Amino acid sequence: MPVKPEVRILEDPDHLYRGAAAEFVRRAAESVEARGIFTVALSGGSTPGGLYALLAGEGPDAVRTRIPWQRIRFFWGDERHVPPDHPESNYRLAHDTLLSRVPVPASHIHRIPAEGSDPHEAAEAYAKTLREHVRPGEEGLPRLDLVLLGMGPDGHTASLFPGSGAVHERERLVAAPWIEKLRAYRITLTPPVLNNAACVLFLVAGADKAETLQAVLSEGDQPDRFPAQIIRPTNGELLWLVDRAAGRRLAGSGVAGN
Ligand code: 6PG
Repeated sequence: MPVKPEVRILEDPDHLYRGAAAEFVRRAAESVEARGIFTVALSGGSTPGGLYALLAGEGPDAVRTRIPWQRIRFFWGDERHVPPDHPESNYRLAHDTLLSRVPVPASHIHRIPAEGSDPHEAAEAYAKTLREHVRPGEEGLPRLDLVLLGMGPDGHTASLFPGSGAVHERERLVAAPWIEKLRAYRITLTPPVLNNAACVLFLVAGADKAETLQAVLSEGDQPDRFPAQIIRPTNGELLWLVDRAAGRRLAGSGVAGN
């Protein structure tokens, strides 16, 4: 039974990243304690860069010292159809801000092979990777311990964009939709695997998302218009961490927990 989302409004991006880092640390510890491994799918775009830098940060009270890096397997929720060293690559964002700075075994970094000419082949290959390296949940689908997601001002999440057939994908674990407004293919995890996660954590910051965020969280179901609404873990937690600017239309609406 899908759970009701928990929505927390944090003062500013810095507090947002600290709140997300605390969730990351807690869930990594719980997963490693229970199963010896923590599987996490990272998101792309610009918002998560601050979290990744905080997780990798040095210093006396560094978060990194509380993370079992050798016991984590990293995946991605989506990828652009570009090589891994391309400025727009979600893998490159995580590599430059986090993975190149912490002792994660190279064999535990499972990037989406988006450099190939055929994005559909990349999607099929990645579905195999998920099945091979992520424990199955009840229905046998890969069950990630944590999925980080962002949300665009248009309500997209991962690479599930308004009007895309991938929003209603029910069979494939990974899809390669053509995104007309971007004039590009994307490779994205689909609702079956995203909604099979033990926890989905949205990180949303910025005033340009406030109107869409209110619609996503408090208006009726319109996933073709707001694909982020398709994300409802069937047997997991759904947590929205938003900064005050993005959450300015939520305060007092009964949606946000604070
Ligand atoms: C991507 C992301 C995408 C992102 C949103 C929000 O590949 O771009 O996976 O879903 O989370 O577009 O991006 P910002 O954090 O840059 O606003």
